This record gives sequence, structure tokens and C-alpha cells, in this order.
Amino acid sequence: MGDYMMKDVFPILSREVNGHRLVYLDNAATTQKPQVVIDAMADFYSTSNANVHRAVHTLAGEATEGYEACRITLKSMYNAPRAIITSGTTEAINLVAHAWGRANLSKGDVVVLTEMEHHSDIVPWQMLCDSIGIELRYVPVQDGELDMDAFAVSLEGASLVCVVHTSNVLGVRNPVEKVISMAKENGIRVLLDAAQAVPHETIDFLELGADFMAFSAHKMCGPTGIGALLVNEETFAEMEPFMGGGDMIETVTLEGSTYQSNEHRFEAGTPRIAEAVGWNAALNWLGEQDLSSHHKRMLSAARSVSNALKERGITVYSRLGDGDAAVVSFNHPTIHPEDFARLLDAQGIAVRTGHHCAQPLMARLGITGTIRASFYLYNDQDDADALIAGVDKVLEAMA
Ligand code: ALA
Repeated sequence: MGDYMMKDVFPILSREVNGHRLVYLDNAATTQKPQVVIDAMADFYSTSNANVHRAVHTLAGEATEGYEACRITLKSMYNAPRAIITSGTTEAINLVAHAWGRANLSKGDVVVLTEMEHHSDIVPWQMLCDSIGIELRYVPVQDGELDMDAFAVSLEGASLVCVVHTSNVLGVRNPVEKVISMAKENGIRVLLDAAQAVPHETIDFLELGADFMAFSAHKMCGPTGIGALLVNEETFAEMEPFMGGGDMIETVTLEGSTYQSNEHRFEAGTPRIAEAVGWNAALNWLGEQDLSSHHKRMLSAARSVSNALKERGITVYSRLGDGDAAVVSFNHPTIHPEDFARLLDAQGIAVRTGHHCAQPLMARLGITGTIRASFYLYNDQDDADALIAGVDKVLEAMA
């Protein structure tokens, strides 16, 4: 599919912002939705809306089938024995902390994190530290990359390694294959935050060898409010339900309850049904795309932005290596990131600013925030050129 056609299937991309064509470059925060996803959700509410796993009427059957179809697609697309549906990456990681961490860790047990983690892969572990006294070790970041020597040392006596596959701030793809094999050689469980990875590459979960993998639908053309935790069988058997309620039980008496044995044991309450239908449409649509050729195009566009920024005396923090995500994080020496982003928005260009929910990484870089342009499969060189022209206008206005 050519670029023109690709932009055409995302209706929002045809709108104007502040009198200009929308140039949407905030994809690491959330991606836009193709018509097929919007239609799938509207069709569900128009024709099949009902609750799941509860009734024998036709609509209930269709809703259950629609919800479970998302799980089936997740399992087959990522080669995952178990796929627990959550509200997103954050809930998936919190689920590991509560359902696996509380059942398997105790005072003094070591969890290894990195300075590159998103807050969602730091705060749940700090909370567990406060409540049950686990020890946290942070692998430092040097020149934007994980310090693998320090990582090797951190593994001594550890129970769990939590690592971000691809940084939401820098776009750096970590050497996750090596991280996982080193952890596994030491008998350590691994949680992979793949929120910024799965939009760009299809991961074979079992082959990669992590125990848990967390990600969100909305960063891969799906709806907000839904995500997944993939788990292997051995680790799934070690998890205990922590959120009780309807649908996760087998029997309830006044004396006690028994729980479902499958993923439902971690999905108490009415789940995100229309969102699962929408996500399934997004997964199937993405499955038809040549992610690798899109990735090459995005990276080339991002590199052209990075080069142009450097030529203009702007600091770029992203390295944009071949396997990295097309994310350009940058700062101007004197113009505040928010002022910069507002002046870009006035030209219809959407970028994110701030600490990107990664304050420890900001501290390591010695800054408080960046301006971040993040590309996705509907972005092309025209968008990169529009950003460069937009930057020039900002520099002119602030001169
Ligand atoms: N984690 C998302 C981002 O980096 C929200 O923007």
C-alpha cells in the first residue's frame, strides 16, 4: 500500500488543525485508528452489544465470541500460551506485581529494573517494595544505552528482571534477546514491557523466552483502555488472582470461593468488550501490513529530521539505529520545549513534550524533558519535511 493510500484509511489524518494539514507525530503516546477499527466498534454497539460469558441469548453469544476472538488472535499472532486481557500495559505490569509478585516474592527478594523504564514499570515495584520489602536494583543507562556489564552484576541472587523492549523516550531497542538469555541462565523470571515494540515488530513470545510480556492496543491502531499480558504456562501456574468479583470465579459460597483456571481468573468484572472487538480488527489489519518496510521508511524520515535538527544546533537524544523505533527526542538550547511544541501545533504539527513518564531517564540525561516526534506507519517523508519546515518557522519566530 502506497503512502497516499495508507493516510487515506485513517480518517483523522484528513482533518486540519489550526488551518494546516494535520501532521501527527505523537505516535509513541497513542496511534490513530484505521476506518476498519472504528467500523468494528461501531458495528459491535449497533448490532451485538451484550455482556460476555453470562447469558445464552444470541447477542450474549456474539459478544462473547467477539471478545474471545481478540484473545485467540493475540495468542496466535504472538505465539503465546496465555493472554490475559487488561486495561493496558500499566495494568498488565501491576497484574504481574500483584498476581505473581505477591505470591512469589518476599522480603529481601531482588527485582532488577532499568533506568530506562517507563513509570509504569517502576512505581508498581516501588509499591511492592514498600508493602513486602523486596529490594530493587536499577541497571544504569550510559550514552542512551543499557550498561550490560552492570546488568550482569545486578543478576546476582535476583528473582525477576523487568525491562523495557524499546524506550518510549529515545526509541532505543534494548538487546532484549541477550537480557533474557542472561536472566534465564541464572533462573530468573523476565517481564518485558513491549508497549513501544509490538507496534513496529511482531514478536514470537515463546521464542524470545520472556515469562511475561505487556503491551497496549492504542499504540498499535487499536482502541484505548485495553491491553494484554502474555504469560508462559509455567509462570501462569504461579500466579494468584488478586482482584475478586464476577466472571473470575467457578463457585462462590458464604464460606469461600473457587476460581476459574484459565485467563478469566484475572479478568474480574465486565471486561472491555467493544475494545476487544476493535483491537482484534486492528491486530488483523496490522497482520496484513509489511511492518518491516514501514519501519525502514519511518526510520529514514526520522533520521532526516534528526540530521536537520543537528544542523540547526539542536540536541538530539535518539540514536536511530536500524532496530530502533522512529522516535526523535530533542531540545533546543534556549527555547522551552512547551513553547516549541505550541508553535509547532500552531502549524498543525502534533508532538509531545515533557518527561514522557520516564523521570529517572531524564535525571540520567541531566534534563527535565524533551520535545518528542514519534512516527508511525502512516507517516512519510512529507511529514518529516513538514516538521523540519515547522522547526524553521519556530526558530525564525523565536530569533
Ligand atoms: N507512554 C506514552 C508516551 O510515552 C504515554 O507518550
